[in-house]
Amino acid sequence: MFFTAEFLEELSERADIVDIVSEYVELKPKGSSLFGLCPFHSEKTPSFSVSQDKQFFHCFGCGAGGDVISFIMRSENLDFQDGVRLLAEKVGMPVPDEGGKGDAERRARILEINKFAAKYYHSCLMGEQGQEARNYLRSRGITDRTIRRFGLGFAPNSWNGLINAAKQYEKAELLQARLVSSKDGRVYDMFRNRIIFPIIDLRGNVIAFGGRLLGDGQPKYLNSPENLVYNKSRHLFALNIAKNSKSRIYILAEGYMDVIALHQAGFDTSVASLGTSLTEQQARLLAKYADEVVIAYDTDQAGRKASDRAIQLFEKTNVKVKLVNMQSAKDPDEYIKKYGADAFRLQIDRSENHIEYKLSAIRGKYDLENDDERIAYLKDAAKILSTIENPVELAVYITRVAETGKVDPSVLEEESNQVKKEKRKNDRRKLRQQTLRPSLSVQPKARELRYDNVRSAVAEEKLLTLLIGDISFMATAQQYLLPEHFSSETLGKTYQVLLSLYKSNRPFSMALLSQSLTVYEMDHIGSILVKAVPEGDKMQALMDYIEVILGESEKKDLDRKELLLYEWKKMKEKKGLEDN
Ligand code: UTP
Ligand code: MN
Repeated sequence: MFFTAEFLEELSERADIVDIVSEYVELKPKGSSLFGLCPFHSEKTPSFSVSQDKQFFHCFGCGAGGDVISFIMRSENLDFQDGVRLLAEKVGMPVPDEGGKGDAERRARILEINKFAAKYYHSCLMGEQGQEARNYLRSRGITDRTIRRFGLGFAPNSWNGLINAAKQYEKAELLQARLVSSKDGRVYDMFRNRIIFPIIDLRGNVIAFGGRLLGDGQPKYLNSPENLVYNKSRHLFALNIAKNSKSRIYILAEGYMDVIALHQAGFDTSVASLGTSLTEQQARLLAKYADEVVIAYDTDQAGRKASDRAIQLFEKTNVKVKLVNMQSAKDPDEYIKKYGADAFRLQIDRSENHIEYKLSAIRGKYDLENDDERIAYLKDAAKILSTIENPVELAVYITRVAETGKVDPSVLEEESNQVKKEKRKNDRRKLRQQTLRPSLSVQPKARELRYDNVRSAVAEEKLLTLLIGDISFMATAQQYLLPEHFSSETLGKTYQVLLSLYKSNRPFSMALLSQSLTVYEMDHIGSILVKAVPEGDKMQALMDYIEVILGESEKKDLDRKELLLYEWKKMKEKKGLEDN
């Protein structure tokens, strides 16, 4: 049986590779990936990497790699079908032929149970056993009104508080709602001795819960795993409340407590992406309600990185993005506690878009009364200006910087164009070097996949990386390239999958690849995808790759003599000599 593309797409969206792999391997962040000890070969230092962005794993030691489905297939020693079934079970998705029809009923039932649980937790917080939890919330400045507004609760320190209270529901249903867990056939409450934050969707359904320890300890927060009614990348905490505000200027924070503190201080358009950095769906969702988003993530390095990512995601929407400056506080919650709501409002009003942010950061470095420093300032500023694509925006900033730096705007414009040109030239040079000088180390690990034509294969790999990063490049690629032009069968098959996805107007998903490729082929694709996407002018790069692939493929069927002639002709063409 073949699974539908929609099903596999949804499965790979719901089954986050980091969550799934974490069930098997202890992962620690390093650079832009997470690392751990490879479960597929024995090792003492971690060379097993997982990328959340790419939803891919790759072991630099043994070469194993692939998407979440191939991970499960390998770990549990299952074929594709059974791998998909197990994964679907883990994330609470029914497999199509196994009762998709009962879905609506099961969803409704889970929502009912969640509502019951939210009421139960809330009554625990307000009752006798909630004394300590109420004290904790009070110590963090949270009022009773806020407790009611957010429906906060408390899960008592018991293995079966909820289970006993929810006698009218089947154990299996409580398991499905992910409110209880089971071990060795015995069930127990998932949330124990924690403050409960219900997560509520736009229709007012309680879809999940977060639970915080009353003090220090690990994990600080426990969240409902994804299930039939909850897909964490599609929701924003408190959007159900924020959407009622008249304002279309939103504040985006990281955590539950930030948002709650913000609302209590009067910022009623605050929402949180809940820990993991913002997803594309969350950005699109927010863009429906917001004209402007002020990012107020934690001020640590992780927060800054998440802000950069969020800015990139909002660039694809119509939302205007700004960054709030909160020196000497780690997050909005702490900022408001230290300096008060008025100070925060001032920071919001003063928040800058990222170009302004960068420009004001460099302005502080120079003494503009000194000519040498003024010139250095203008050069630095030109670098920032050269990244602006929009001509109107560019004109505005050029005028502004020219005024500050006391030069004619046209000088600045020229300088910024110059920087842009330089950069483009450098990018192209780098690209050419990469394309023209492939090293032997690019050969696939598995012998049967070895490249016959390394030069072409390198261009093929890079082309695929580009396409997987942004399938819209297929509009150009498909005009020139067919799968049979590829020198490597694996890469050609991958291109074929991408091509049919593009034609049927579907987004790329790793799961569809694992359906068409063998486990070894997936390993190899994994090892390609862990390499960085080429920087610079991507369209130009695409054309360069296509040229190499077509050129090499033309040679394929020529015999030696013809080949020499062909090379000779090419060389002459290049030199621009007359053909005779
Ligand atoms: P923070 O550690 O910044 O927590 O994580 P916080 O919201 O400031 O909470 P307090 O102030 O310490 O109580 C930000 C968000 O990341 C997620 C939660 O959604 C949290 O609100 N997170 C954090 C988890 O899911 N699990 C954790 O163990 C930690
Ligand atoms: Mn925080």
